[in-house]
Amino acid sequence: MEILVTGGAGYIGSHTCVELLEKGCDVVVVDNFDNSSPRSIERVEQITGKKVSLYKADVRDRAAMDKVFTEHAIDYVIHFAGLKAVGESCVKPLEYYDNNLYGTLVLLETMRAHGCKKIVFSSSATVYGTPERLPLDETCRTGGTTNPYGTSKYFQEIMLRDLYAADSEWTVVLLRYFNPVGAHESGLIGEDPQGIPNNLTPFIAKVAIGELKEIGVFGNDYDTPDGTGVRDYIHVVDLAKGHVAAIEKLNKPGVYTYNLGTGVGYSVLDVIRAFEKACGKKLPYVIKPRRAGDIAACYADASKAERELGWKAELGIDDMCASLWKWQSKNPKGYKS
Ligand code: NAD
Ligand code: WQD
Repeated sequence: MEILVTGGAGYIGSHTCVELLEKGCDVVVVDNFDNSSPRSIERVEQITGKKVSLYKADVRDRAAMDKVFTEHAIDYVIHFAGLKAVGESCVKPLEYYDNNLYGTLVLLETMRAHGCKKIVFSSSATVYGTPERLPLDETCRTGGTTNPYGTSKYFQEIMLRDLYAADSEWTVVLLRYFNPVGAHESGLIGEDPQGIPNNLTPFIAKVAIGELKEIGVFGNDYDTPDGTGVRDYIHVVDLAKGHVAAIEKLNKPGVYTYNLGTGVGYSVLDVIRAFEKACGKKLPYVIKPRRAGDIAACYADASKAERELGWKAELGIDDMCASLWKWQSKNPKGYKS
């Protein structure tokens, strides 16, 4: 099976390429390297001993996308390419809508022109907005998103549903990720944020290697067991395997929606403690005010994916922290190390 992975050089994409190659799939990657490095693909090849067909291209570039589909008989597309920083999206909404919505539009039009009608889309728990209830299952209300990034994910889900409504030959898989963290056990690939990380675990990792002074804990007065925010952290390798499970199982047209999470919520302080265990040192932190737009708690009911895809997260918070620590300590400057 030949799979096109857009954004395949990125954090989740590179881990998914490893799992696909290890299952014997042929992998084609399109990435413009706006938020990644071609080195991640070299490392994917090093881990698996297999080759990736790599195109440096933007998914909004029609001619480039047409060339990819002309040169390969793509069976399934996994669409990761896009911009993902919540805060930045509030400052640059047009750039986010252009990349995420227009990019998806060009991709879908190219797929249709080449008769490829199977897509797995990287959605996000962010489409649930403020959770209607916890745990979040796939029937919970979506929308009410609070930033352009989240809204772009919500709109892309609608675009894909409308496409299936108009043409029932499509297979559309919407995977709503919770909080992906950790790295491949080899320590060769991992998340490589540019500048000061926005997300919790990369920030902690930078404090652990001494690049940043202390962790800021955004609020300890939430209605949660220890007052700090609770999230459903999922190991990126489990997440990657969820994509393979979807591709293997879902070959009948339809729209399929799954939460990919563990179903377990950890607080910020839980994560700091787990990371201290992984790196073997105490990590300094200070309590700061709440971060604008944050919610108290968010975790998944991930049972639908288990029932229908036979997929379940296997790795826990200690594996997540240990693998992140291995990646960070082996590659203190990420792919520039
Ligand atoms: P990432 O930034 O590491 O990967 C995205 C990749 O897409 C990068 O390699 C980037 O260079 C590439 N890219 C961006 N715009 C492109 C374009 N127009 N054409 C070609 N390539 C382009 O991000 P990630 O964490 O791996 O996320 C992958 C997907 O999963 C994104 O769609 C993101 O919104 C979604 N997602 C991520 C998270 C998370 O917390 N990491 C959570 C939920 C959903
Ligand atoms: C986790 C917890 C913070 C940083 C974001 C996006 C979401 C999804 C995943 C793509 C919260 C706290 C954080 C820090 C802290 N991405 N925190 N100090 O906000 O749950 O989700 O990434 O779809 O859309 O919003 O993840 O890692 O930023 O925060 O105390 O320096 O850690 O308040 O409780 P979040 P996060």
